[in-house]
Amino acid sequence: MNVVIVGAQWGDEGKGKVVDLYSAQAEYIVRYQGGNNAGHTLVVNGRKTVLHLIPSGILHPGKICLIANGVVFDPAVFFEEVESLRASNAFSAEPHEAVRVSERAHVILPYHRLLDKLREERAAKGKIGTTVRGIGPAYEDKVARRGIQVVDLLRPELLRAKLAKAIEEKNVLLKHHFGAPEIEIAPLYEECLALGERLKPYIADVRSLLAQALEQERPILFEGAQGTLLDVDHGTYPYVTSSNTVSGGALTGSGLGPGFPVRVIGITKAYTTRVGTGPFPTEIEHTEAETAREIRRIGSEFGATTGRPRRVGWLDLVALKYAVEVNGITGLALMKADILDGFDHVKLCTSYRLGGNTVYDLPSCVEDLERVEPAYEVLPGWPKYDRSKVQGIEDLPSELKDYIRTIEEFLKVPVVLMSTGPGREETWIVSDPFQKI
Ligand code: GDP
Ligand code: IMO
Ligand code: MG
Repeated sequence: MNVVIVGAQWGDEGKGKVVDLYSAQAEYIVRYQGGNNAGHTLVVNGRKTVLHLIPSGILHPGKICLIANGVVFDPAVFFEEVESLRASNAFSAEPHEAVRVSERAHVILPYHRLLDKLREERAAKGKIGTTVRGIGPAYEDKVARRGIQVVDLLRPELLRAKLAKAIEEKNVLLKHHFGAPEIEIAPLYEECLALGERLKPYIADVRSLLAQALEQERPILFEGAQGTLLDVDHGTYPYVTSSNTVSGGALTGSGLGPGFPVRVIGITKAYTTRVGTGPFPTEIEHTEAETAREIRRIGSEFGATTGRPRRVGWLDLVALKYAVEVNGITGLALMKADILDGFDHVKLCTSYRLGGNTVYDLPSCVEDLERVEPAYEVLPGWPKYDRSKVQGIEDLPSELKDYIRTIEEFLKVPVVLMSTGPGREETWIVSDPFQKI
């Protein structure tokens, strides 16, 4: 069996923790979209590791971590991450035996980061609040057919020609639109060649490795980044990232067809957070400011990539139902319910009010989504409880069990994993998605 992990909300649901846990059963762990806009946190034996680019299976010796074609790849960040993992003795062999990068992945270059920054600074209104890692501009170049791929870093003549093409329009934009200095090709070209040389041992035909893995029935774990509502096609456009974060992205982003056995596990917090701008129907920053502050404080809701405070709100079942549908989610991992321990009451949004009507689907137009009023089912909170006395979900306080049951019944999807702390061991597995039924 193979498993796709997707964020079912706006990112930071706890994907890194679940991927680390599930990696014990996988042989290959694959990042298939996004780039180092991701910040995936793993806590193993009390030690915290934040990964931006390298798959979250890396702390398990003997696994193969793949960065597939759908990722936008920043080589400088990659080497920083490799060195930091090496310094913490994470590699049991040479790093390039554990991590491979697709020849076809597109490269994030300094001008992508620069444009991301200049655009965000320039936007008076409609700022996306990006991570400023150059993700959007790199995907733009890919779709505009002027991107630099990893394989190009190994072909000096081709690289020079492609860089010249890529830079031509950028310099017009930089000089005349942003009033910024133009890019010089020569130093960039030298830098790219040097990066290519250093990257050589890591570069592979990742698609072919995965096809062989499927053929040999080796279990593959696909690690989604960001979240469903940040998907460029299905999210709260234009307040989204620039890739397909939904489970379909695992196919196009790694070069596999849809016929193989797979389960899709949606990761959700017991509440909701969002970083950056854009609609967020159940946000409580202004309506229940004290509760928002408490959740942010107890849940340490600050971005793993940029350190920005995350916006906080109640669990939105309308949005989650949408995520179940667009991803084909077969099981849910419910994270961070511990943050709500001891709350007097908790709320679940089960519909929206829009212009005097009740709606049960996520409106497609961002203006409508900005206007909706959430309608809540209010449930009693659960007391703080002694986790050492709990063997599984059946031993939880009855109010928490009710909360979980309400979510499952609304979504018609079972909770297959429940997490009650950042550590690997702070988890109850209800059923193992890698097992054949
Ligand atoms: P990701 O981007 O989806 O991998 O999530 P992040 O790593 O950005 O954010 C999730 C944060 O919550 C991290 O700091 C995790 O260590 C932490 N975390 C994950 N699961 C739990 C949990 O069940 N309880 C608590 N208290 N923290 C958790
Ligand atoms: P993980 O994988 C939360 C958000 C940014 C911004 C929007 C576009 O850790 O869940 P981008 O830099 O991608 O062009 O920014 O997407 N965003 C994330 N929010 N978690 C992430 O990743 C995110 N990656 C991007 O805040 O709103
Ligand atoms: Mg994150």
